[in-house]
Amino acid sequence: MERVGTVAAMRRAVTEWRASGQAVAFVPTMGNLHEGHVALLRLARKKANRVVSSTFVNPMQFGPNEDFNHYPRTPSRDSELLTAAGCDLLFEPDAKEIYPHGHLNATRIDVPGLTDILCGAFRPGHFAGVASVVARLFNIVQPNLAIFGEKDFQQLAVIRRMVTDLQIPVQVIGAPTVRASDGLALSSRNQYLLPEERELAPRLYQELVRVAELLKSGENSREDIARHEAESRAALKADGFNVEYFSVRSAETLHAPSLSTEQMVILVAARLGKARLIDNVQVELA
Ligand code: PAJ
Repeated sequence: MERVGTVAAMRRAVTEWRASGQAVAFVPTMGNLHEGHVALLRLARKKANRVVSSTFVNPMQFGPNEDFNHYPRTPSRDSELLTAAGCDLLFEPDAKEIYPHGHLNATRIDVPGLTDILCGAFRPGHFAGVASVVARLFNIVQPNLAIFGEKDFQQLAVIRRMVTDLQIPVQVIGAPTVRASDGLALSSRNQYLLPEERELAPRLYQELVRVAELLKSGENSREDIARHEAESRAALKADGFNVEYFSVRSAETLHAPSLSTEQMVILVAARLGKARLIDNVQVELA
């Protein structure tokens, strides 16, 4: 695996590949890689001739009281995992390369309707930060396709909308959530959990699955949904979670489902100790 830190070096490599007819897949990350990231890289390997990844921890998507300074950084292990997963080229720029005028003065991308709901309501500016860095990374790497995890369902929706709206010539592909054997979605932030919190954490996924089964069994009227949401919030709260939201939405719009909605998604965000955990489960009503 080759490693580059500048826009110029990245452009040189990818231009050469694309000129020789090779398809380039891109997997952006913030490093501290785990099996969830590795699954995206493996999918990239299958879908293209060349795989590019990045491990830039993007300051623009962290709020002033969030964990930017403490976000786990493990560059040598990341490099090993990327190499083993078949990554050809790693982009590891410093912040000046991405934000020459500083991230606070950077041109921003707003994606109306999707960025102020769910996680966006609790993390103001977060999705503008994500969209703004992903647009830059797409312009720098110029891949044919890019792979994102469904674990961050709202992020994937924001990126899809941005790519459509800005006519960015990149195919966006979603990949299923990778979970620990007890159901907890893998996340860099799981490391913040104390042992007893880690034991409790799979309750989030259990509640998502419970509600998914109820919706599929036909309990999916507006009243049913409101009841399921309230019961899950109360159950998680009783277990010790600080629930930000537990919500059934249309998988397409991320707004409240209507009577004709067939593709739903149940999304949850909750704090447990020092960790903020998110998860979701999609439900198809036949
Ligand atoms: P990060 O949290 O490092 O995640 C990088 C990619 O891995 C994202 O597409 C995310 O959805 C995916 N991912 C994380 N955990 C996963 C899991 N358990 N199963 C499947 N995929 C998983 O998301 C970001 O970084 C950043 O916001 C980024 C898009 C890189 C922009 O800075």
